[in-house]
Amino acid sequence: MKDQQLESKKVWDRAVRLFHWSLVIAFVVAYITGEDESLVHSYSGYFILGLLVFRIIWGFVGCKYARFSDFIFSPKETINYTKSMMSGAPKHYWGHNPLGALMVFALLITLVLTTVSGLKVYGIEGYGPLAEVNSSYFISNANASGHMEQEGEDSEEEEFWEEIHEFFANLMLVLIALHIVGVVVSSKLHKENLAKSMVTGYKSHKE
Ligand code: HEM
Ligand code: HEM
Repeated sequence: MKDQQLESKKVWDRAVRLFHWSLVIAFVVAYITGEDESLVHSYSGYFILGLLVFRIIWGFVGCKYARFSDFIFSPKETINYTKSMMSGAPKHYWGHNPLGALMVFALLITLVLTTVSGLKVYGIEGYGPLAEVNSSYFISNANASGHMEQEGEDSEEEEFWEEIHEFFANLMLVLIALHIVGVVVSSKLHKENLAKSMVTGYKSHKE
C-alpha cells in the first residue's frame, strides 16, 4: 500500500480570512442590535454590505480558491460528492467542496437579501440611501437630533418589509447552524481542521 503523505497547501488568502471573521463579528453585532434599531445596527449592516460587495468582486479577481469559478459545480458532481460522502470516503477538494460551495452561495445570497431588505425598512423610515423623499409618512421638519419625526403607526409597507427583513435575518441563523455542522462533519470526514484553515489559510490533507 502506498504511504500516505501529509500535504499542506495555502488555500485561503488573507482577504478571504479577514472577510470571514469580520463578517462573523459584524453579523453577531447586527443580529443582537436589530431589536433596538440603533445606529450600531445600521452601521454594522452597512459594514456587512461593504464586505459582501468586496467578496463578490474578489470572487472574480481574487486568488484561485476564492474565485467563484473554482467552486461552481455541476449537479452531477454535487450528487457524486454527496454519494462519496455517504460512503465515508469523500473526494477531497482543496477549495470549497460541492456541498460547502452551495452553502457559501446560500449564505452570501441570504446576506444580500437581509441587508437590502434592512435598507428598505430604513428607507421607509426616512433614513439611508433608499429614503423616500417627500413621503407623506413623515412631517417635513427634522427634530433636534436631525432625524425625521415619525407620524403615527408603522405603514403597511413598512410592516411588510420588516417581516421580510426579520425572515431573512432568522433564515441566516438556520444557515449558519447548518454551515457550522457542515464544517465539523467535513473536518471529521476529511481528517482536516477546516476552522483552523480559515484562521491560518492552510489546509493539510493526507494524499
Ligand atoms: C446582515 C445584516 C443584518 C442583520 C443580521 C439584521 C438583523 C435584524 C434583526 C434581527 C432585526 C429585528 C427584527 C425584529 O425582531 O423586528 C432587525 C431590524 C431592523 N433592521 Fe436589520 N439587520 C441587518 C442589516 C440591516 C441594514 C443594512 C439596515 C439598514 C441600514 C437594517 C435596518 C433595520 C431596521 C430599520 C430594523 C427595525 C425593523 C423593525 O422595526 O422591526 N438592518 N434587523
Ligand atoms: C464560529 C463559527 C464559524 C466557523 C468555525 C466557520 C468556519 C468556516 C470555514 C472553515 C469555512 C471554509 C469552508 C470550506 O473549507 O469550504 C467558512 C466559509 C464561510 N463562512 Fe464560515 N464559519 C463560522 C461562522 C460563519 C458565520 C456566522 C457566517 C455568516 C455570517 C459565515 C459565513 C461564511 C462564508 C460566507 C464562507 C465562504 C468564505 C469565502 O469563500 O469567502 N461563517 N466558514
